[in-house]
Amino acid sequence: MKIQTKLLLPVLFLLALYPLQAQKFQGLAKTPPMGWNSWNKFACDVSEKMIREEADAMAASGLKEAGYQYIVIDDCWQVSRDSLGFIVPDPQRFPSGIKALADYVHSKGLKFGIYSCAGDKTCAGRPAGRGHEYQDALMYAKWGVDYLKYDWCNTGKMNAEEAYSTMRDALFAAGRPIVFSLCEWGNNKPWLWGAAVGHLWRTTGDIYNCFDCKKNNGNWFANGVLQILDMQNGLRKFAGPDHWNDPDMLEVGNGMPANEDKAHFTMWCMLAAPLIAGNDLRNMSPETKAILTNKEAIAINQDTLGIQGFKFAAKDSVETWMKPLCGGKWAVCLLNRSKVSRSVDLDWKSMSVTDSLSQREFNTSKEIFKIKDIWQNKEGGDTRKPLKAVIPTHDVLCLKLYRKE
Ligand code: GLA
Repeated sequence: MKIQTKLLLPVLFLLALYPLQAQKFQGLAKTPPMGWNSWNKFACDVSEKMIREEADAMAASGLKEAGYQYIVIDDCWQVSRDSLGFIVPDPQRFPSGIKALADYVHSKGLKFGIYSCAGDKTCAGRPAGRGHEYQDALMYAKWGVDYLKYDWCNTGKMNAEEAYSTMRDALFAAGRPIVFSLCEWGNNKPWLWGAAVGHLWRTTGDIYNCFDCKKNNGNWFANGVLQILDMQNGLRKFAGPDHWNDPDMLEVGNGMPANEDKAHFTMWCMLAAPLIAGNDLRNMSPETKAILTNKEAIAINQDTLGIQGFKFAAKDSVETWMKPLCGGKWAVCLLNRSKVSRSVDLDWKSMSVTDSLSQREFNTSKEIFKIKDIWQNKEGGDTRKPLKAVIPTHDVLCLKLYRKE
């Protein structure tokens, strides 16, 4: 009896503390979030009409079926704060209000996301969250928000971990499970502290629709696909279920040729990156739709092991990337970065590797794998024979390797 009382007190003490404990909502992003966001295509040109139409398109086009869930309005939906400090949506562009829009998105079987920023103003100069975190979080919860992207403009000397933790706590206190997407661009190494704060964190500055470019925007650079890819080096060990590296949203369908879009999408799948489409879903070319909905590529991205892929080798501007998948499977993708096509000769025997992060071994001397080309949707051959292929410029060869029964 005495021992039990002794135990009971500390347990009661801990239980009393529990609700005060800083935490994020757990388990909201066991696999990388999939959705759509307005910024890459529309920037500030957002309205409830367009957002509704994008939700319709997501539901009707096959994207929802492929796993896309979130419809996220980025910057510029907000114009001011009222006399009590509550955020005011643009009355011209969102005449029915945000709650009605969230309800509409939910009625399509989708989830609804919104954007704000940790600083005094958003990156587009709209009212942001600083000093209003708990008030805004309550408002988002009342509106039925499921996902919050939180930016890092106009933050002066603010401490990133603290600022994002304040918003995390505000969301938690508001009580509605909301995926928390940290958009801090990697400035303060969010991979070191982000897992306790949010479900995903941007690792770089903004992407733009160019495969191999860098654009000087004055006080910051926008990055092409390859530039962003290279910046992921060394970060894979920080990602996993419920806490993902975010190399920024997709530019598929925003003007790059189909081979570059395909390579971009494939690499984001290999990185276990959030798949947030950034194109106009209302009029997609068949190529764009086929890329965004490729089942095998998405399965690589959404694999429940939640292990980010790694670069295994690089030769003549062709990189070989590998990603361990559940059930002993592997994804092996070759990316041709060069401006000309390249012939490759994959000698599986020379590709033995043990990934210390996932504790998975790839060794074709011990185990034979069957091969499926995920873009040709073709099964054939196995790892007993070397594989020869030609990869066009800025394109990929991506294979799923699975056990031979
Ligand atoms: C930053 C973000 C972008 C976008 C804009 C909005 O640049 O990184 O993704 O949200 O702000 O103003």
